[in-house]
Amino acid sequence: MINKLIAGIIPYFPPKFIWLFSKRYIAGTNIEDAIAVSEKLNNHHILVTVDILGEFIKDLSQAEKNKTGYIKMIEAFTRAGIKGNFSLKPTMFGLLIDKEVCYNNIRDIVKKAASVNNFVRIDMEDSHCTANEIELFQRLIAQYPKNVGLALQSYLHRTHDDLKALATLHTDETPLNIRLCKGIYLESNKIAYKGHREIRSHFLEDLEELLTRGIYAGIATHDKYLIKKSLELIEKHKISNDQFEFQMLYGVTPKLRQSLVDKNYRMRVYVPFGQEWFGYCTRRLKENPNLAGLIIKALFVRG
Ligand code: FDA
Repeated sequence: MINKLIAGIIPYFPPKFIWLFSKRYIAGTNIEDAIAVSEKLNNHHILVTVDILGEFIKDLSQAEKNKTGYIKMIEAFTRAGIKGNFSLKPTMFGLLIDKEVCYNNIRDIVKKAASVNNFVRIDMEDSHCTANEIELFQRLIAQYPKNVGLALQSYLHRTHDDLKALATLHTDETPLNIRLCKGIYLESNKIAYKGHREIRSHFLEDLEELLTRGIYAGIATHDKYLIKKSLELIEKHKISNDQFEFQMLYGVTPKLRQSLVDKNYRMRVYVPFGQEWFGYCTRRLKENPNLAGLIIKALFVRG
């Protein structure tokens, strides 16, 4: 209740105040900021996946600008020799306005990444986008089999079936690479699991499906319990360390992250940056008021 109240009023606070807590989770507003943060992470043996903030655009001219931004970012990150790849949200390229325009924009970005032997992950957005984003991924992977991956959300009822259907595409020539996360959007209980325990149990079921089918898994969670159970699955099925990686968000649970790096597990941090940070933060808060508690904590607790 209190979180909901705080989440409701935070968007009316001055951006400077919001930046106080956001800077812990966002690398900055421009490419140089994101490169500096990524270099630091690389120096600590952590890979990155870099995301330019922005989503749900209202007009297609913005999609073109966003594409140019991503292409410039890929060039700059390649020049800087950063160890990492890129993540993007299809609604930033017009998914909900014109699917074909969106496909063409993202194809150009994946083509650019492929030209420098890199990789683009399609983030999974809310359930209005799920089917379209899976379809988009299938079209892209047919053209760029080693340069594009997808995120799936274990809270959706449909995910296990989606995973099984996608797994049929997995071959030596087209090795799938899937990020598994719980899911961050507010969805109806008609389509999504709601309980903490059942989301965790579906996460582990989905992860076991990925691992046993030899699909590269990005285990995206800060949940200690899930990390422990994931490691048990990895052990049980004798999965080698180059078949999975852990993924965490920039600024979140750095100690837990370091504990995995110290054990030589591959770790990738999601590094968001860009001018759209204010809208991004306030939208996330509206969707998930529980984050307000974490934000207040971030204001007072350092490190
Ligand atoms: P949980 O929410 O239980 O968090 C465990 C602990 O981590 C908390 O107790 C808290 O200490 C800490 N924590 C978690 N989130 C925090 C935050 N924001 N700030 C401070 N502390 C925090 N979702 C989606 O729908 N589509 C996507 O494409 C992605 N992509 C993605 C990439 C990566 C790399 C990660 C790590 C996550 C995503 N997500 C996502 C978000 C994901 O679905 C999920 O909502 C969050 O990771 C929170 O769930 P956890 O499993 O981390 O556990």
